[in-house]
Amino acid sequence: MSTVYLNGAFVPKEEAFVSVDDRGFLLGDGVYEVAPFYQGIPFYLVRHLERLRRSLDAIRIDFDAVGLEGALRRLVSLNELEGAERSLVYLQITRGVAPRTHYFPETPVPPTVYAYAKPWSRPSDHVWGRGFRAITVPDLRWPRVDVKTTLLLPNALAFQAALDAGVDDCILVKDSVAIEGAHQNFWGVFDGVAVTHPATNHILSGITRGVVLELARARGIPVAERPILLDELQEADELFFTGTTGEVRPCVEVDGAPVGGGGVGPVTRALSDALLAHVEEIKEAVSTATP
Ligand code: PDD
Repeated sequence: MSTVYLNGAFVPKEEAFVSVDDRGFLLGDGVYEVAPFYQGIPFYLVRHLERLRRSLDAIRIDFDAVGLEGALRRLVSLNELEGAERSLVYLQITRGVAPRTHYFPETPVPPTVYAYAKPWSRPSDHVWGRGFRAITVPDLRWPRVDVKTTLLLPNALAFQAALDAGVDDCILVKDSVAIEGAHQNFWGVFDGVAVTHPATNHILSGITRGVVLELARARGIPVAERPILLDELQEADELFFTGTTGEVRPCVEVDGAPVGGGGVGPVTRALSDALLAHVEEIKEAVSTATP
């Protein structure tokens, strides 16, 4: 039975209930985070919580996130996920419970804070090594997708369109720019340079994206942060996604056309290897640190 965190308490999932007047339910009035753990060790949790604070500020939810790091670690432990190679915590904070209005509750109400933890797994090396196929889909999201809100209907419709088309992923396109995936950032490799959209209001600035940029720079792999035009996709040597649950995820086909040579390219492989090695470094550093 899984244990979840709801408004300060750890309770069995079956006993966790939220009011039908919750503004998250009625209006999508909330923000969220998804943070990875490897063998129970958090990976850049501080950055996830910093982004959460920025999201809360952006939509003007007054909540002190200070105690959350400990609560999320405890959630992983209570769900016995220290042994899991990979697990994640999902954390959502909504504006709280109040009769439905298009304005904020007149009398302040406490935000609703909900989190769960679960294991997840990376695709097998064989599946990863074949790469993944994507289609392009119009980006119908609002112009503040740098805020990680629970308003994910356009993302869900886009991802479902990809599944309906029999492929694995989608690339959201706005104003002829290949922006990002439904739940992951998007990259192209052009003449050896790994390119990804700048961290503007048009993308969710992924924690994985930031770490991969740092790892690339540290290893002398050239990177550039600039928009990738839709027209450039046919010329790309490689395409890939980054994200918490995708890590580095190769994209070998877009809208039925092969990318580069049609297989997983060397830069994608190098960055994936770098990310996985960095996970091992962090696990090693934590397990050898004196408490
Ligand atoms: N998605 N872009 C979007 C639109 C996302 O929703 C996400 C994360 C990312 C990658 O961010 P990060 O590297 O911090 O995971 C990019 C989460 C995992 C989700 O919605 O499940």
